[in-house]
Amino acid sequence: MLENRQFDNSDIQSVMLDDENSTLIILDQTLLPNEKIFLRLTNQNQIWEAIYSLRVRGAPAIGIAAAYGAYLGIKESKAESYEQLYEDLKKVKEYLASSRPTAVNLFWALDRMETRFKAEEGKTVDEIKNALKDEADTIRIEDEMVCKSIGENALSLLESGMGILTHCNAGAIATAKYGTALAPIYLGKERGYEFKVYADETRPLLQGARLTAWELNEAGIDVTLICDNMASIVMKEGRIQAVLVGCDRVAANGDTANKIGTSGVAILAKHYRIPFYVCAPLSTIDLKCSTGEDIHIELRSNEEVTSKWYEKPMAPEGVEVYNPCFDVTDNILITAIVTEKGIAYPPYTKSLAELF
Ligand code: MRU
Repeated sequence: MLENRQFDNSDIQSVMLDDENSTLIILDQTLLPNEKIFLRLTNQNQIWEAIYSLRVRGAPAIGIAAAYGAYLGIKESKAESYEQLYEDLKKVKEYLASSRPTAVNLFWALDRMETRFKAEEGKTVDEIKNALKDEADTIRIEDEMVCKSIGENALSLLESGMGILTHCNAGAIATAKYGTALAPIYLGKERGYEFKVYADETRPLLQGARLTAWELNEAGIDVTLICDNMASIVMKEGRIQAVLVGCDRVAANGDTANKIGTSGVAILAKHYRIPFYVCAPLSTIDLKCSTGEDIHIELRSNEEVTSKWYEKPMAPEGVEVYNPCFDVTDNILITAIVTEKGIAYPPYTKSLAELF
């Protein structure tokens, strides 16, 4: 399963299918920044595990991995008819959908694979399998273009010289390319903008320290790592002119689920009158959730908080731990939601619906 390939930082491809269309290759994000290891995943069990364990993570990247998982899951199926193959697809879909609950891109991508499957009724089993590979490729390629457009739109809100705070990792490795919240920073760099980025370390899994700080540093972008509890002081000291974050699911009213700690950053930004921008592909907007109350928040293991990064446990044995992996930022704290189709402003129930 392990493969250590030459790593090209200028063009990070964190999720891709190999040339023989038989293996999903992912950059193992749990090992960054110390090791750059690509894994070859050949079946749905390995892909489920990679999503669950955050080897592949970030809402768009999870969706892409699941789409390829659906294809690889039925590729070796012995089904001889459309109906038999459809039964197999439904099982794979249900299984992969159980890997993580919050990022809607997972379900969006799997639904899209099923829709494509149904559109191929009447074709041979092999033709349907090829169509699913084509659909997964399309999801990946579209995501790259979508992220670039989000970057363009978000860049229109920024000026060179700004200090930008970001939380978690919504960068290139969380998507097909460019990222969402980090896309304007990459595009801005290409155009001579100079940003000073502050990356929250993002307890407990350190996506900000391990992934965002690494990614931006490798790209030659001015990045400063801070602990989560330092966000207030950098705002108060006037170092931050905009906050940019990604998201895992946006409800119809603009309430936004993102990595735990995001809502606290938004509350601070409101206090210090700093614009708080959420960057979201349309695939992350879930109009079926009317408010953030409808969003399922993933709970993860106690060890992530008590012992994961320490040589010895840093909490008393058996202590009660609460470890929600995401929180919901209320729409009133969000200055704008930046999508590939344009920038939505409050009231979001109207502006988000108009984007579809
Ligand atoms: O648990 P993670 O690391 O998958 O959480 C990811 C985030 O919260 C990201 O900000 C979000 O998925 C946007 S990625 C473009």
